[in-house]
Amino acid sequence: MFITFEGGEGAGKTTQINLLKNYLKAKGQDVVLTREPGGTPEAERIRDLLVRRDGGNWTPTAEALLFFTARHMHVESLIKPALNDGKTVICDRFTDSTIAYQGYGHGFDLSILDQIQRLSIGDFAPSKTFILDIDVKDGLMRAGKRMEGDDDGSTEDRFERMNLSFHENLRRGFLELAKKHPDRCVLINAAQPVDDVHAAIVESLENDGSPQG
Ligand code: TMP
Repeated sequence: MFITFEGGEGAGKTTQINLLKNYLKAKGQDVVLTREPGGTPEAERIRDLLVRRDGGNWTPTAEALLFFTARHMHVESLIKPALNDGKTVICDRFTDSTIAYQGYGHGFDLSILDQIQRLSIGDFAPSKTFILDIDVKDGLMRAGKRMEGDDDGSTEDRFERMNLSFHENLRRGFLELAKKHPDRCVLINAAQPVDDVHAAIVESLENDGSPQG
């Protein structure tokens, strides 16, 4: 099973990914945790170019191509082999993030993103996607707290530093994606206490008839 976690800044993805990993492991599953952009040595190098404050001033097209270059490497070298070995892969962000951030956030043409997606990963998609939804200001405050005192050019905050309307737009993007793909996407209210968010995620997986332990 290929599970992805999505959401704006400060939605609590990392916490929930770790809780789900522990839950699935306790059920006997072999779990691989990974993230985007990144997950392989090559893709992690591309990550630095994309998310660090000093990573570069990319044109929107170059930025979208770089995200999908990293994703292509990640899918081919890590995700597909792990799935073929019968492992469960949990990934922190995937294509939905590109649609939300580059498409809805930056206004990059969604049909061009769709073409780049087909070229780089075909119709490969997660089996389940949890979209953690939180009020933009609350999320940025949480994310900001995490970054406090961390203020050189290597800080991974190129997108967190965008203005409020950028973040409102990408939140709208995630909500639209949840509506467009109701079988794959589960929208979770991330303002709830951590344990309640985890319980909602587990309940959704159990209702799907998976995971099997
Ligand atoms: P993270 O902070 O969740 O690790 O994600 C890294 C940053 O990269 C985050 O600000 C969202 C951004 N991003 C995109 O803009 N497009 C993408 O396709 C992905 C995967 C991440």
